[in-house]
Amino acid sequence: MMVEVNELHKSFNSNVVLDGVSFKVSDAENMVVFGRSGTGKSVLLKCMIRLMLPDSGNISIQGKDVLGLNIKELNELRKDIGFLFQGSALYDSMTVKENLEFPLIRNFDLDEKEINSRVNFVLEAVSLLDAMNKMPSELSGGMRKRIGLARSIITKPKLMLYDEPTTGLDPITAKEISVLINELQHALKMTSIVVTHDLLCAKIIADRAIVLDSGKIVKEGSINELTASSDPLLKNFFSDEIIETSGRGK
Ligand SMILES: Nc1ncnc2c1ncn2[C@@H]1O[C@H](COP(=O)(O)OP(=O)(O)OP(=O)(O)O)[C@@H](O)[C@H]1O
Ligand SMILES: [Mg+2]
Repeated sequence: MMVEVNELHKSFNSNVVLDGVSFKVSDAENMVVFGRSGTGKSVLLKCMIRLMLPDSGNISIQGKDVLGLNIKELNELRKDIGFLFQGSALYDSMTVKENLEFPLIRNFDLDEKEINSRVNFVLEAVSLLDAMNKMPSELSGGMRKRIGLARSIITKPKLMLYDEPTTGLDPITAKEISVLINELQHALKMTSIVVTHDLLCAKIIADRAIVLDSGKIVKEGSINELTASSDPLLKNFFSDEIIETSGRGK
């Protein structure tokens, strides 16, 4: 088991966000997390890598008790985890190449040859080799997303956490990014947790999905099972999402 989350609770004063969240993700599995805006999906991902401390519960990643690790052990574990933040920004004053090198130079002891070969590999994977020496301001939004994705996988993480990787992209680019995530997933044999509102993205990526609502996981299953469900909450959720996604431009 790559990830085991057990009875996670997190409140901000009187705002109860996570109210006993439990789930597991197997090695090399792609799991999607659905939920309305504000249900705590980003909070959940942040708790998983201890960017935020939950009030109670347990998180195990690769068999390690995340909340019990000391800082050195935590940093070691984080080297195996990639995180594509919601609206993940590139450093404006750095070229694409420098942006990509940044996580490698900061956290890993690699020689220049290895760094160059990884930069080339990830740029090729996202079909943006010719953007290597450009500044982020010279790229379109979709290209920046792809570079962000390239940067999050350059460390060859075993676990990838994606927070809305396709939000704000046009449907064609969103589909391309989803296909890319899926391909990378298989090429690098990563496990991934993908928070998304994008049903098409979920269909491309997900082996399984969970639905977060009112602080709890209320449903779990394949995308087909969830979208075909007669459960009022799910019916509502998916019909709203389809309308919302088509007009959404966050
Ligand atoms: N640092 C914080 N301090 C106080 N409240 C917070 C903090 N971070 C998140 N929250 C609250 O936690 C709740 C869940 O936020 P979260 O960002 O996880 O939602 P989400 O499910 O990711 O929504 P979206 O789909 O819009 O990204 C919200 O009510 C939010 O206001
Ligand atoms: Mg969020």
